[in-house]
Amino acid sequence: MKRNAKFKTMPATLESFGAALDFLSRFEPFSTTNLDTIARAVRRQILNGEHVVTYDGDRIIGYAGWLPTTQQSGDAWADDRGELEPADTDADAAALTTVAVEDPMITLGLMRACRDLNPGIRVFFKRAYGNRGRGARKASVLNTTGIAPAERVEKRKTTSTAPRPAIADDPCLFLYALAEQHPGETMRIPVGETSVVIVQDPALAARVLVGNLGNYTKNFASFTPFFGRSRLTLDGEAWRHSQRISQSFIAPHDTARALALVARIYDDFADALLATGGAPTVIDGLIDRAAVAALTEVAFSTPLDVLGASFAEDLRPIIRYAAARAWDLPGVPSGADSAMLAHAQSATDRIRAAMAALVEHRRTSGPENDALSALIAAADETQSGPEETRIDLAGELLTLVVAGSDTTSAALGWALSVLASAPDFQEQLRDEIRATLGDRVPSMADFDRIPSLRPFIDEILRVFPPVAILSRFAQAPDMIGNEAIVPGDRVLVSVIGLHQNPSAWDAPREFRIDRHDPNGEGRADRKSNFMAFSAGPRICGGARFAQIEMATALIKVLRKSRLELAEPLPFAFEWGASMRRRGGQKMKIIAL
Ligand code: HEM
Repeated sequence: MKRNAKFKTMPATLESFGAALDFLSRFEPFSTTNLDTIARAVRRQILNGEHVVTYDGDRIIGYAGWLPTTQQSGDAWADDRGELEPADTDADAAALTTVAVEDPMITLGLMRACRDLNPGIRVFFKRAYGNRGRGARKASVLNTTGIAPAERVEKRKTTSTAPRPAIADDPCLFLYALAEQHPGETMRIPVGETSVVIVQDPALAARVLVGNLGNYTKNFASFTPFFGRSRLTLDGEAWRHSQRISQSFIAPHDTARALALVARIYDDFADALLATGGAPTVIDGLIDRAAVAALTEVAFSTPLDVLGASFAEDLRPIIRYAAARAWDLPGVPSGADSAMLAHAQSATDRIRAAMAALVEHRRTSGPENDALSALIAAADETQSGPEETRIDLAGELLTLVVAGSDTTSAALGWALSVLASAPDFQEQLRDEIRATLGDRVPSMADFDRIPSLRPFIDEILRVFPPVAILSRFAQAPDMIGNEAIVPGDRVLVSVIGLHQNPSAWDAPREFRIDRHDPNGEGRADRKSNFMAFSAGPRICGGARFAQIEMATALIKVLRKSRLELAEPLPFAFEWGASMRRRGGQKMKIIAL
């Protein structure tokens, strides 16, 4: 293959895949077309080198992907006489199927580069593409045939009345029901025109996440367009590189500092709860703010206010949109519509601008001993290196904010609502906190001295795991129990299924803190039965941080207030980056 100086092929890595999807998703029709189908087509284009990109600095400004085909099929397709047929072994032509450019002037260059990369064969470029709008045709085209072998692109039907499959409509409720009806079973569940494999058995979950880790890559295609590439979404060497940079800062490296910052933030949070004056209140927004503030203070040494008044709230529409599109499978009506997209896009613009200002400010004020400075330094160092080794600074920072706040916020919401619904236990925990601490500021060691504190947090994470599904893509054939896995299969480890498995947990539906040891002993025995933080190399990087934060928050709130239910709360879920209660965690907060 001949390489062009300005137009080049990206390496066959998942980073390139993420970068291509990130770029394409900014354009119509990609932003409103079934994401799974586009992801499959782009995946093939990246893996097989069937694409070309062009950059402005390190920013992609043009992308063209093609499908190897035959002249006969290409001719018929170009004349609208037939479908474009892929030809993997006897290709004597290529058809440009996926094109997006920031500037229409780039299109010609991309086509030339495509011809250079396919010497001696005909390259078809069809003017009438799936998106027939004049303006959009200039900037981006997506052809509706041959986008992926044997597949038709499904344009999202935002007004479709077809019911969504139960698993896509309410994944958490579906998984609780599955765990009850088929405990521990591995099952292939049809979804639209395809299927997903659900794993509920601890040994098989360990195979996917640890034993045969290399065969199961992360499946975050719907999140990368907004959150970019990061240690959460990358695999292989790129992940290891990224993981090494941030891990010591979010572990966290200076526990005393983290504890002091978190204590102050949750003091303010406890006051904000009290300010509701005992009126029935949905407290999710207040918890979100506190959890985002804890992350920005510890990882970026920056108060949340500096990032703007709407920063924490702006994360919600992005998470909601990305989560809805995660179930964009062929034949499944999308759960997202154009209003959701518009909302998510404007929130993303504000978030990205705030992040850019944060980085700019840090560059001027000089480095600090935190994750922000470590990531800026790593991004600068890798800037001139090959694409696959570059750190996506914005992606890493945003991922830390979301991974480091949404999950903890969800867990705290469940914890406070369970306390509100169990007044006797709430009183017991408050008494234990007072007896152990008096008015003293808690230290790390204190968390283990309050007998019910850690078991309560563990039981919350067992019964209401914020990350209820660990989603992976199979790369090669494998056997999961009796289920034959083929490349491209979506394999979902149901954390709900593991935590509700009666062979591991007695009466799994009952909320019982006596299952867990106060000081964490016996944790090793739980092995894969408890996977709230996942397992193996890709285990949560912030598990310790989360436990410090939850323990501190519970201590601060219970010392100052009594929680009461305003009304019975439904066993109903909202699926985002983590599992929340549908309708929010509503309660009354009474001053003590
Ligand atoms: C109760 C709170 C939390 C829960 C339940 C939780 C759960 C998880 C789970 C299950 C994963 C693995 C996802 C997968 O493999 O698909 C994960 C990954 C991750 N989490 Fe957490 N998390 C929590 C809090 C945090 C906090 C506070 C931080 C940061 C300070 C954080 C940072 C991360 C990062 C960076 C990863 C990616 C790890 C890697 O692949 O290198 N998490 N988390």
